[in-house]
Amino acid sequence: MSRPKRAKPSGRRPLRPGDPKRRSTKPRTGPIRVAVLHGPNLNLLGTRAPDLYGSTTLAEIEAELGRRATARGAELRSAQSNFEGEMVALIQLAQDWADAIVINPGAYTHTSVAIRDAIEAVGLPTVEVHLSNLHAREEFRTRSITAARCIGQISGFGAQSYYLGLDAALSHVEATRRSHGKTGKENRRTKRR
Ligand code: DQA
Repeated sequence: MSRPKRAKPSGRRPLRPGDPKRRSTKPRTGPIRVAVLHGPNLNLLGTRAPDLYGSTTLAEIEAELGRRATARGAELRSAQSNFEGEMVALIQLAQDWADAIVINPGAYTHTSVAIRDAIEAVGLPTVEVHLSNLHAREEFRTRSITAARCIGQISGFGAQSYYLGLDAALSHVEATRRSHGKTGKENRRTKRR
């Protein structure tokens, strides 16, 4: 049996999850992968306060997200949880697979330092989405603890918020890859001279 190859020492400090340097590492190539995460009570969409959240079910939203991702050559995985710690675990898991996250943290938006910290630690570009317009609701909903660690927030467009969120995430990763590609070429040219 051949010996497992050792990684060459790079002379640099190894990157740990949460190291801000992760963000500047080379973006992955291949189909863009997006993790879509839904927080508590979003499994009840369709029947839960349809005046606020619409009548589209979570399964219908996910099917449409899947269609849109496929149409753009992207891959999508999604999960829903009613538990804060599980949301944190799902965000951490996304780090091993995804290029971006679309998240609706539900009520944890307004309470969860743990979810905010997980988004920050993982360092993936994250879009926060809400079906309802947070700013047209109770005072406590106008404050998002998590949004400050996201690249942006979309709120108030019903199920469309998710589709706009996916669009924003894909466009962001595409732009990052394009600009990284340019930088890579420039660097190679500079080296040759
Ligand atoms: C929500 C808004 C939150 O305030 C609420 O707790 C939810 C849903 C939305 O999508 O509009 O569960 O995240």
